[in-house]
Formats: sequence, C-alpha cells, structure tokens
Amino acid sequence: MSMPAVQLSKPSHGFAAIELTPRIATEIKSDRETLLSGVYAAEIRRLLEARGVLIFREINFTDEQQVAFAKTLGEVIPQGEKGIYKVTLDKKENMQADYLRGAFYWHIDGSTDDIPTRASLLSAKRLAPVGGHTEFANTYAAYDDLPESDKKDLNDLKMVHTIQAAQAAAYPNPTPEQREGWKRYIPRTHPLVWKHQSGRKSLVLGSTASHVEGMDYKAGRALLERLEAWATQPQFVYQHKWKLGDLVIWDNTGTMHRVTPYDFDSGRMMHRTTLVGEERLV
Ligand SMILES: [Fe+2]
Repeated sequence: MSMPAVQLSKPSHGFAAIELTPRIATEIKSDRETLLSGVYAAEIRRLLEARGVLIFREINFTDEQQVAFAKTLGEVIPQGEKGIYKVTLDKKENMQADYLRGAFYWHIDGSTDDIPTRASLLSAKRLAPVGGHTEFANTYAAYDDLPESDKKDLNDLKMVHTIQAAQAAAYPNPTPEQREGWKRYIPRTHPLVWKHQSGRKSLVLGSTASHVEGMDYKAGRALLERLEAWATQPQFVYQHKWKLGDLVIWDNTGTMHRVTPYDFDSGRMMHRTTLVGEERLV
C-alpha cells in the first residue's frame, strides 16, 4: 500500500541562502513580507559583503516595496522618482540614456566619487528579447587570488578615474559637444587596492580607470588590461539572466559589473535604488 502524497505548503517567513557559484553570488529564497520586516537585514548585509551579489528571483516588489526594503539595509540616495532611478536606453524615459551606454563595459558605480555608493538594488520591469544580462565580478576574490608578488607591487599604486575614460569606451568617435561634456567631471585619484575597514582588500578597476598615477601611460594601461582580464575570469564572475520581477543587489564596494549587449530600442527597463556609500575608498 502506498502512502498518500503529502501536500507541502509553501514556507512563509522563511529565509534560505543558496550559493550559486563558489566565489560569488547567493540566491535568497524568502518572501516579500519577511524581507520587508527587516528581520534579516543584518544577515542580508553580511551576505552581501561576503558574496558580492544577492539574487531574489521573481520577488516582484512594487517600487514602494523596493525602496522600503532598501531602507532596511541602509540609507537610500534620493535619486530619480522617490528613490527609483530608471535604467533604460529609452530617452523618453531617461534623459541620461546616452550616458548609460557606458554600462556595457565593466565598471564600479560612482568610482569617480570620493565615497562610492554602498550597494544597488535592481529590479527587472521590462526585458530585452535578446541579451541584457548583467554580469558581476568579485573584486575581493580577484585580489585574494593574485600572486603574492603582484599584491606587493600593486599595494601602493594609485589610479586616476575619469568619466571621459568610461564614455570613450562607449563612444570611440565622440562629437566636440560630448568631449566638452565629459570634461565637466572632475577626475578622481583612488588606490588600486582598496583597504577596507574590515581588513579585507579588493581591486578597484573598471572603465573609469584612465591611467596609473606616476607610471608610463602605456605601461599603466597594459597593467590595467592585465588586471581586468584577471578579475573577470569565469571563477570570479556571475552572470544573471533576468526574469521579470527579479531583484538583484550588488555590493558596489567589492564587485564591478556590466550588461551584455542588447538592442538599444528594446525598451529594456530596470528600476534601481542605491544605498549611500559608507566607506571612503582608501
Ligand atoms: Fe552600473
């Protein structure tokens, strides 16, 4: 005689963390109510720093819920409409759409700021039919795995970050107006190795990295290219293939990210909420 099948009800108020790759990205299985309660906020912040990227599949937060959830994790930057910034290449939806084309290249958000943002929360509202996946690279893990000789050589190097360098990647033949616009941003010098208050170290790379201070330009560029190739090896990278309603949070102080190519006219729409930076880049 067979046992009657047991109907398992969906767990409520549950919280489970599942590592998606050994070095980066954890999926959080929970529900909206639990996440909004803030009960797991400290654990989410801990996981974010440890794992770089957290995935909440098809959590389907409204804008208000996304901002409320973000507020359980830190201070929200009053950007966009009530803390929701529209990441899209549709100029009718975002006047800065041209600038966002820089996102196709590896970068750290706010890397020309003194204190880069803490983290970003991104929700998928409309998908591109092809491409538009977001890739994240763990810059803590990339640093940790460097040969000791590299760690020694890189420890005191400083790099100059500019918007110009990042935008030149997206626009290799800029108009004079574009050139003038980019010049309005102040270059920022940062250490190549971020010595965090926690004692951990991460690499500070990405498309805003223009050149290494005090080093021959070509030699500096060669070093940057070598380190970017190193830091974006498959073992340090997680690629998120979006589904509608997914929410992804990334630690902007220990990862860099980029989006894979997609049709500029696809209408892809992501809603982003950003947390205020908490740690000076030193
Ligand atoms: Fe970005």
